[in-house]
Amino acid sequence: MWTPALTDEPPENHLDRLGTIFARFDRQDSGNVSYGVAVGGERYFVKTAGHPDHTPFLDHAQRVDLLHNAVRLARTHRHPALPALRAVIDSAHGPMLVYDWAAGELVGVPRGQRDDPASSFQRFRSLRSDRLLAALDTIVDVHDLLGGAGEVAGDFYDGCLLYDFTTHRLSLIDLDHYRPGPSRNEMGRMFGSSRFMAPEEFIRGALIDQRTSVFTMGRTAQIFFSEHLRGPLREVVTRACHPDPAERHNSLPEFCAAWRKARRN
Ligand SMILES: Nc1ncnc2c1ncn2[C@@H]1O[C@H](COP(=O)(O)OP(=O)(O)O)[C@@H](O)[C@H]1O
Ligand SMILES: [Mg+2]
Repeated sequence: MWTPALTDEPPENHLDRLGTIFARFDRQDSGNVSYGVAVGGERYFVKTAGHPDHTPFLDHAQRVDLLHNAVRLARTHRHPALPALRAVIDSAHGPMLVYDWAAGELVGVPRGQRDDPASSFQRFRSLRSDRLLAALDTIVDVHDLLGGAGEVAGDFYDGCLLYDFTTHRLSLIDLDHYRPGPSRNEMGRMFGSSRFMAPEEFIRGALIDQRTSVFTMGRTAQIFFSEHLRGPLREVVTRACHPDPAERHNSLPEFCAAWRKARRN
């Protein structure tokens, strides 16, 4: 269905011929341009780096590099909560990544809407605690898989969470900044939402490793679950969010094991 793997057309023309574009994501901070496309009765999410002349923050070559990293990630790790990558098509604007469409609403909303009880952010936060915990278990499960393979999280925040309030399925999207191992912070303030970021993500030259990812997991639990955190689960999360990486769990699998143990209590 997604052949040929090569086209000299811009993505939109190509997709228009293959099926019906029903959604457009063209106002992203990333500079990427993505589409919801219906083809043969199925829905897909097609991600591109956008127009080569468009240079908001990252230039086109840098955006394409991140998409190649997303391809690497999707081809290396498969999980039911990660929309499957079905095809990669080279176009006039670089690669088009064809993923399964994930139903649901983005949990992350602009800051100004975060206090609105009608926002997906607040509706997610006020889910029944067993549903919320199940969603956090899914996030932990994905990070156990990725962490076990050495991946280090980058730019994980609530804008990576798509939640279907009808089926209660959670999908994790946009993990394009994850890296296959530790790295040095070369930016000072790195990409990301400061609510989820560890202190070392603000310090140029600092080591960014899975202990950084552990912090982000802990913040995720605090942001969505603070009122419900007590007992052993609270201890796990407090340790994960320690400002000093040496005081946190040593790796994602270690954090995930501690989380699961505390969940059983
Ligand atoms: N697999 C998917 N299914 C449905 N919608 C998606 C999917 N992946 C992303 N989206 C939607 O598209 C938006 C942009 O995608 P994202 O991967 O975050 O791109 P960007 O790199 O531009 O931030 C997301 O905020 C989300 O609303
Ligand atoms: Mg995004």
